[in-house]
Order: sequence, then C-alpha cells, then structure tokens
Amino acid sequence: MPTILITGTSRGLGLEFVRQYAASGWTVLACARQPSGSTELMTVAAANPQRVRLLALDVEDHAAIERTAHELEGTPIDVLLNSAGIMGNGSFATEGIAFGRFGQSDFADWERVFRVNVIAPMKMAEAFVGHVASSDQKKIVTLTSMLGSVALNRVGGLYAYRASKAAVNAMMKSMAIDLAKSHGIAATAIHPGWVRTDLGGPRADIDAPQSVTGMRAVIAALDLSRAGRYWVYDGSEMPW
Ligand SMILES: NC(=O)c1ccc[n+]([C@@H]2O[C@H](COP(=O)([O-])OP(=O)(O)OC[C@H]3O[C@@H](n4cnc5c(N)ncnc54)[C@H](OP(=O)(O)O)[C@@H]3O)[C@@H](O)[C@H]2O)c1
Repeated sequence: MPTILITGTSRGLGLEFVRQYAASGWTVLACARQPSGSTELMTVAAANPQRVRLLALDVEDHAAIERTAHELEGTPIDVLLNSAGIMGNGSFATEGIAFGRFGQSDFADWERVFRVNVIAPMKMAEAFVGHVASSDQKKIVTLTSMLGSVALNRVGGLYAYRASKAAVNAMMKSMAIDLAKSHGIAATAIHPGWVRTDLGGPRADIDAPQSVTGMRAVIAALDLSRAGRYWVYDGSEMPW
C-alpha cells in the first residue's frame, strides 16, 4: 500500500487525513508537534499500529525536519501533505472578517504565520523530494485557502493569512513546474473548503470528514496534467 506523510496531525484536517488514509490501508507517517498531547491522534495510532507511525515534528524547526528526512531515508513517500497551518494571534473563528484588520498588524505574528504556512511547506518539499521521487505516486500537496485568492478578495482584511496563502499558491505553482521536469512529481495546492475545525470555527460550511473525503479524491486524481492548479475539495477549481 502507498505511504503518506502528513504534517499537523494533532487535530483538525490533519487528524482526519490520518483517520481516513489509515482506514484505507495506507501507511501514514503522522507528524505532530507533540503527538502524545493529542488523545485523538494517539487513539487512531493505537487502533492502527501497523499503519500509523507517529513522528514528533514542529515544522518551524528546520533541523528537526532534516533529522526526520534523514531518519526516513530509503522510505518512499507517495504523498507529502502539508496540512499544518495557522491564522495567527486572535481568532477568525470568533471574530470573523474583523480578525487581522489594517492598522492592527503584529509583525512578529506575521513572521510566525509565514514560517508555518509558507516556509515550512517549502522546507518540507526540499527535505523530502528524494523520498517522494522514489515512490510510485510522486505527489506533493499543500493546503491553501480560498482567502489566498487575489481574484476573489472582495472584503479585504485578514492580511497575514491571506498573504501567506497567496504566497504558498505561488510557491506550489513553481514547484509544479520545476518538479514535474526534474523528478516527475505532481505538486499542487488544495483549498479544503470552510471547515468546522479550531481554525475554521463552528459556523463553517462543512465538517472535516466531508472536506477530507473530497480532498482525498482530488489527491487520488492528481497527476502531472492536474498539477500546479488551485483545486477545491469538491474537485472544482478556484481563480488565483
Ligand atoms: N478549517 C478551514 O476552514 C480551513 C480553510 C482553508 C484552509 N485551511 C487550511 O487547512 C490546514 C489545516 O487547518 P485546520 O482547519 O485543520 O486547522 P486546526 O484545526 O487549527 O489545526 C492546525 C494544525 O496545525 C498544527 N500546527 C500549527 N503550528 C504547527 C507547527 N509549527 N508545527 C507542526 N504543526 C503545527 C496544529 O498543531 P498543534 O495542535 O500542535 O497546535 C494542528 O494540528 C491549514 O493549512 C489551514 O490554513 C483550513
């Protein structure tokens, strides 16, 4: 069965990806800052001891990313999935669009948002490109957001998060072009929908199982002809 490495699996979409891929028989390398701190992740891992391997990984820690890549040397990774992401201080879930207003920027917080949402997926891709290239499926996926679309921004606000997701879109587009040529890898960004997680909040449109079921279908269909696009969880596409 194929192998997937997922970041940010302690909760939310990352955790649901672990559940669904493990239930489908995949080998899951589940990365979380502190796996033992998530009862739900520990429960999924205990129920699937042959399939789920827990790895402690803070994606802001580049030395730890390199160490993990080294530990997994010789392990083909069919799908590298960057799910870990943050919106920054404050809460979009409670404040909605008022969160991250002009004039309220905390630039230390901006830097953290960029380290997790943009730099980490780049570092992960560079560290694990060899593992992915040696696999059968050869895919790199990063979760983006509709809020990264410049074309669809009609209400403003949410500066750091929007900018980080627009940046990761540009990054995944370049990766799709470069890695297709150099390694035959299909790279892309996927918007999960507005999902009821800690990040999305309770008023969001869909739940994590629905979002992840849809994204798994998009990932299954991903090939070089479908790489470098702005996919939505339901298989539609979004304007950049
Ligand atoms: N939910 C939505 O509506 C929505 C919409 C569009 C895009 N997205 C994107 O989807 C992805 C997942 O979001 P979510 O809704 O699942 O969010 P979530 O429920 O808030 O979970 C975020 C996950 O990221 C992890 N994380 C944060 N910083 C990390 C770090 N430095 N190193 C490793 N892991 C870290 C968290 O781990 P800890 O438990 O250790 O903090 C947690 O597991 C994000 O990229 C987000 O931007 C979500």
